[in-house]
Amino acid sequence: MKVLLVNGSCNKNGSTNRALEEISKVLKEEGIESEIFLIGNKEIRDCTGCLACRELGKCVYEDGMVNELIEKAKTSDGFIFATPVYYAHPSARILSVLDRAFYAGKKHFAFKPASTVAVARRSGTTASLDVLNKYLTVSNMPLVSSNYWNNIHGKIAADLEQDQEGLQIMRILARNLAWVMKCIELGKNNGLERPELEEKIMTNYIR
Ligand SMILES: Cc1cc2nc3c(=O)[nH]c(=O)nc-3n(C[C@H](O)[C@H](O)[C@H](O)COP(=O)(O)O)c2cc1C
Repeated sequence: MKVLLVNGSCNKNGSTNRALEEISKVLKEEGIESEIFLIGNKEIRDCTGCLACRELGKCVYEDGMVNELIEKAKTSDGFIFATPVYYAHPSARILSVLDRAFYAGKKHFAFKPASTVAVARRSGTTASLDVLNKYLTVSNMPLVSSNYWNNIHGKIAADLEQDQEGLQIMRILARNLAWVMKCIELGKNNGLERPELEEKIMTNYIR
């Protein structure tokens, strides 16, 4: 089993990476493989709403990030989406990537347990978590929690060592995610399949 740890920061060795390392360490103890997928500092375009992905099954813009994420989602069994907080919201780049990845590749995330993490110097974590959680809760993804909201504090990675509560939240989150993944795997091995999807009804508030 594998967990994809999406890092919505530009910084390879920043605070968000440190939080994900704590999660990765516990997943390894639980016998679960993980990979940090860094969004990084390359140019990323927004979703333009062209809907070409409906036919293609991937994003029409081949800028090397979104379609790579969709490909990795296909072979992942769980996810953590982590972001630094910018002006009390998630990084603009993680939103650009997730808008496109979920629109084009939603079915590859569905029924896989996941959670979100926000890293800030001081404020804006819960508002950021609310935004990221919405990708999961519109995609049939079981949302895994910890013993507190999934935030951790620091301006730079080294600061996170002082946030012992934050590091513990990350470890508990990882253990809970591993447990949910193992329960799903056990169910699958005993004939318990994911629920059948009804055909989507769209009422667009047009009368
Ligand atoms: C443009 C920008 C906006 C920021 N806004 C906030 C904020 O609203 N609240 C906060 O606590 N920290 C804010 N920060 C600080 C970052 O969230 C913090 O330094 C974080 O640890 C960076 O994570 P990273 O090293 O993974 O990129 C901001 C940083 C930048 C660059």
